[in-house]
Amino acid sequence: MKACHVASRWPFRGSIRMPGDKSVSHRALMLAAIAQGKSKIAGLSPARDVKSTLGFVRMLGVKVRRLSGVLEVFGEGFAGLREPEDVVNLGNSGTSMRLGAGIAAACPFLTVLTGDASLRSRPMARVIEPLRRMGANILGRGNARLGPLVIAGGALKGIEYTLSQASAQVKSAVLLAGLRAHGQTRLKEPIKTRDHTERLLRRQGVELGEADGWLTLDGPREAVGPFMLSVPGDFSSAAFFLVGALLKEGSDLLIEDVGLNPLRTGLLRVLERMGARIEVHVYDEGGEDEEPRGDIRVWHSPLKGVDVSENELPSLIDEVPALCVAAALAQGRTRILGAKELRVKESDRLRAMATGLQGLGVEVEELEDGLVIHGTPKVGFGLVDSFLDHRIAMAFAILGSVTSDGLHIGRPECVEISYPGFWQDLEKFAKIG
Ligand code: S3P
Repeated sequence: MKACHVASRWPFRGSIRMPGDKSVSHRALMLAAIAQGKSKIAGLSPARDVKSTLGFVRMLGVKVRRLSGVLEVFGEGFAGLREPEDVVNLGNSGTSMRLGAGIAAACPFLTVLTGDASLRSRPMARVIEPLRRMGANILGRGNARLGPLVIAGGALKGIEYTLSQASAQVKSAVLLAGLRAHGQTRLKEPIKTRDHTERLLRRQGVELGEADGWLTLDGPREAVGPFMLSVPGDFSSAAFFLVGALLKEGSDLLIEDVGLNPLRTGLLRVLERMGARIEVHVYDEGGEDEEPRGDIRVWHSPLKGVDVSENELPSLIDEVPALCVAAALAQGRTRILGAKELRVKESDRLRAMATGLQGLGVEVEELEDGLVIHGTPKVGFGLVDSFLDHRIAMAFAILGSVTSDGLHIGRPECVEISYPGFWQDLEKFAKIG
């Protein structure tokens, strides 16, 4: 197994910029593909997952051109989309498959979506079920639970639907299909999740209603408006450097131009409860059709354990691996509960974090829906596997970069999934060999 060694070098000082937000980038590509006219996207994420979405829209016949760092997408509405000539391979990307299923469901042709072993093991019934109710014909392995998905889309009708999980991907898939559905689509989420799709749709001239916890969209429409967008830095990538700076003595780090959507930044609130010294400078408040963004400054701080509840989880769902690393070196116990969704991410992240930390001598109780981590002043030395999950690799890399002996990270190349420049960026602060 390929591995690299990461160890402490300098404090996290200076300033750093993150790659473009992955969630926003997926949506920008898909919504530009169904816009009528040319959209321009600056700062698109270089993530491999986003390349999967780019491949998907290209296979639907959409023209895309890169002009000095700006991506131009020439949409011709839903009617401009063509049947893909082959199976569409979406690699590791759950967002591409679930949101892609929403678009394919609205198209009167056959689309087959597949991915790598991890993506083919992730739950898809959550998206198949509402899209079938809207009128799409969808088949999936394991009695319509798993990909590959075979989608024969077409005339859809709006539905009233309460999501069974707090999932922005499912919400977005139903909204995308709902654009072309006859009648009203009504959605309710158990806990509010990231609203990037809603903000972008509003920017494209789509009216979305919000009342009594229901999100409503009236269809059908054949296209949305084209747009110009500058994608903010990815908060989920910033999470690793935030935690590194908090843990490493002498750190004072400025993370510039990060997306600060409050439905994504739950980690900031939890870290502040742990005692973190963090200053957020919001220089663009955003609006109902724009993402807030700003700079985050973080200083080394002694941390203490806290409780994280189910209600907070959607706002930090991808940041739990980084949070676990902070908890491992905090004083006292951290309890993360109501987190069973983490078992069905790119890997079983509860298992991956528990196994990795336990291997380094940290006391961790693995619950069915969470973790209890007992902080320790010093972790042991060893090899930790990434489970081919980018966020697990980056979380343990940060842990390695604040310890003098460091850590070996197994299968480290998977960081490309969300943050291809991660190892180069970390090298400013850590020894990597
Ligand atoms: C995402 C939503 C979250 C998150 C994923 C990206 C998105 O998944 O974990 O990495 O872009 O909508 P769920 O909505 O399935 O929880």
